Amino acid sequence: MSELASRRILLGVTGGVAAYKAAELARLLVKAGADVQVVMTEAATRFVTPVTLQALVGRAVLTDMWDASVPNNMAHIEASRDREIVVVAPATAGFLAKLAHGFADDLLSALCLARECPLLVAPAMNRQMWEHPATQRNVATLRADGVAVVGPAAGDQACGETGLGRMSEPADIYAELVALLAPKTLAGKRVLVTAGPTFEPIDTVRGITNLSSGKMGYAVAQAAAEAGAEVTLVSGPTALPTPPRVARVDVTTAREMRDAVLARAPGTDIFIAVAAVADYHVVGAKDHKIKKRAGEAPTLTLAENPDILGEVASLPRPPFCVGFAAETENLREYAQAKRKKKGIPLLAANLAQEAFGADDNALTLFDDHGEHVLPRAPKIRLARELVGHIARMLAPR
Ligand code: C5P
Repeated sequence: MSELASRRILLGVTGGVAAYKAAELARLLVKAGADVQVVMTEAATRFVTPVTLQALVGRAVLTDMWDASVPNNMAHIEASRDREIVVVAPATAGFLAKLAHGFADDLLSALCLARECPLLVAPAMNRQMWEHPATQRNVATLRADGVAVVGPAAGDQACGETGLGRMSEPADIYAELVALLAPKTLAGKRVLVTAGPTFEPIDTVRGITNLSSGKMGYAVAQAAAEAGAEVTLVSGPTALPTPPRVARVDVTTAREMRDAVLARAPGTDIFIAVAAVADYHVVGAKDHKIKKRAGEAPTLTLAENPDILGEVASLPRPPFCVGFAAETENLREYAQAKRKKKGIPLLAANLAQEAFGADDNALTLFDDHGEHVLPRAPKIRLARELVGHIARMLAPR
């Protein structure tokens, strides 16, 4: 089931070119099974018609403060009362200014003032308007008032200029809504996650590494942040963007990863080791490119890398440690043995051949109570289930 199924969302649309993308956002929300009420400003209706949005969400669009079809004639109160969140996308510079100062001279601004639920805005405007100190002041005021802000993004603008001010893509706004509506099961917790491979140099251009895209670890970091945790992600080399609200520390080798983790472990409540750490590094790696000589193959001497998870788990006051294991066979047997050997309460195991590089995976969780199968699903969904499982294990009985 989708994270937004049956969630009651009010989508506010204000008058900017990006209003056409609001239709795409509405479509994504409806596809996810959300219950969407659209409210448009008069200016927004100049860019897209209420008919388009009504057709997409299957519900009459509200535009007018004096809409006589609302039983008590108080659309600004009625429209937001049964909603779990209000998202204004796009939010123009003018609308942000109104919100920041508490103006309530049209239906959307009035209901934003009257609402009891969280508010997310997706600013969209020309880059100069975004950079203007007045807009920056207004956005800072809104943040201080507890309003969530997504974007804006950088790139080409409808006005022909290039810069910061484009509305975030509908998929990014959608992800932000999922995060805001997620249960805050790890609120107040500090979570440290390792992800990706490590790269162990042979010389300045060659090295040995593990196959790992980093997708599972990044998904775990994202899910922990959605659950309200303060997340640090120690990442080996990957091509992935940092998830929102996650602090990322980039490392290359296993020894760098160990140092970055151990420096942070003391203040950490939960350590989730997802990285595919190389088991060995090359002794005497060269600081220049080794010249190739015909008929002569160099011999590499390898030395064992530190077991980062093992070291954290054996600290005097260890955080709650979660390990990952990729096996190619005998998953159950190897996984429980590994959990015991590392002395950790929870281990998530998968079959390596099913997971590498893919966007989905299947996991089996092993703890003191046995095993819990998480059937094949997108990695982010599995990560959310894993985070839920950790939160339940940590919850006071
Ligand atoms: O020992 P093995 O590599 O099979 O264990 C996998 C688990 O241990 C993963 O959670 C991985 O991130 C972690 N690990 C580690 N440091 C290593 C090797 C693995 O933290 N050197």
